[in-house]
Amino acid sequence: MGDGDLSKWRDEFPILSRTVYMISNSLGAMPRQTARNLAEYADTWATRGVRAWEDRWWEMPAEIGDKIAGIVGAPAGTVSMHENVTTAEMVALSSVRPSASRKRLVCSAMDFPSMIYLYRAQQAAGFELQVVPAEGDLTVHTGRMLDAIDDRTAVVAFSHVLFRTSYIVDAHAIVGRARDVGATVILDTYQSAGIIPLDVTALGVEFAVGGCLKWLCGGPGNAFLYTRPDLLKHAKPSFTGWVSREHPFAFNMEDDVTRRDAMHMMNGTPSIPAYYAALAGLDIIHAVGVDRIRQQSQRLTARLLALADEYGFASAASREPDRLAGTVALNVPDAPLVSRTLKAREFIVDYRPPVGVRISPHFYNTMEEVDRVMAEIASIVATKDYDSGETHSLVT
Ligand SMILES: Cc1ncc(COP(=O)(O)O)c(C=O)c1O
Repeated sequence: MGDGDLSKWRDEFPILSRTVYMISNSLGAMPRQTARNLAEYADTWATRGVRAWEDRWWEMPAEIGDKIAGIVGAPAGTVSMHENVTTAEMVALSSVRPSASRKRLVCSAMDFPSMIYLYRAQQAAGFELQVVPAEGDLTVHTGRMLDAIDDRTAVVAFSHVLFRTSYIVDAHAIVGRARDVGATVILDTYQSAGIIPLDVTALGVEFAVGGCLKWLCGGPGNAFLYTRPDLLKHAKPSFTGWVSREHPFAFNMEDDVTRRDAMHMMNGTPSIPAYYAALAGLDIIHAVGVDRIRQQSQRLTARLLALADEYGFASAASREPDRLAGTVALNVPDAPLVSRTLKAREFIVDYRPPVGVRISPHFYNTMEEVDRVMAEIASIVATKDYDSGETHSLVT
């Protein structure tokens, strides 16, 4: 099978004609339509002014949330929008009250650092943090996670797909154990939503967080929180605000009547331009379908690994196709320099210690591009002809 009809989508992403863009685990490519949608945002603001809130903006988080719901297996009305995943995670965490006998927060050492900073800080609010150590190969062992969860566990918060290795954690087993002991699950789907099939309803998680920035091609500022429908009715996040209220414009200090849909989990004024930016990517991911995206992604990552073996590059990627999501990391010599040189030559990838150069093809990439990026890496490694630009860069 070739890249087939998926390549017809390439025209929709301007950057693909200029670069080999394989960094969708960090920032997905911008759809052409996004520029028009952002222009519409500006026009609306310019011409409708404050009336735009009533026309569309106030309910826009719910509109975008429903599009995301359709991709992650959630019912309409269960996905709220937040500025970033750390904030979404905090809203979920703030709905759980630790008690003397149940206060443990179990996570894994391979979760994204921002999450761990947040969990650690919640010890001031009565949680006791238990970080399950990683394995030598930078994966998370299911048995270790299961052993850590017992009736002292209040929350199990973990990444579905690990950001360094793209390893797919056995969410089903961990959620099952959490359910058995009565603990609340917050699943971080940032590296799974849009690139591997995900069904938060079938998994039965209480909460799931993620964002549109990466595999959903929606740009920054539009993270999401799924709340299981039965919890939405009575969840009391302590991180709350007026947008969650049924009658926000009554400005009634005593008003405690909250909305019954996902906006129940929101707090302050929503990030409207970010939602305009998210629209096109969500529509495209929906139209292509995550099953087809996964098929193409698996073809491309398999090819990356086969070539890694041919060239003799080490990789922390799992060799079990069902355990590897969208990224193949290559531990080549001088990996930061190789990554920088690739970027200077219009091969867009990144570098993360200790796994090396991360290569993340999406449905819009081709087998030919995979061959080209690997040949380029082989050439840079052989010649050590590194880009001599800035030695320090903020974003690697
Ligand atoms: C798995 C995972 N969780 C969380 C984050 C951080 O999210 P945010 O910056 O939106 O808080 C990232 C960012 O790359 C991530 O990969």
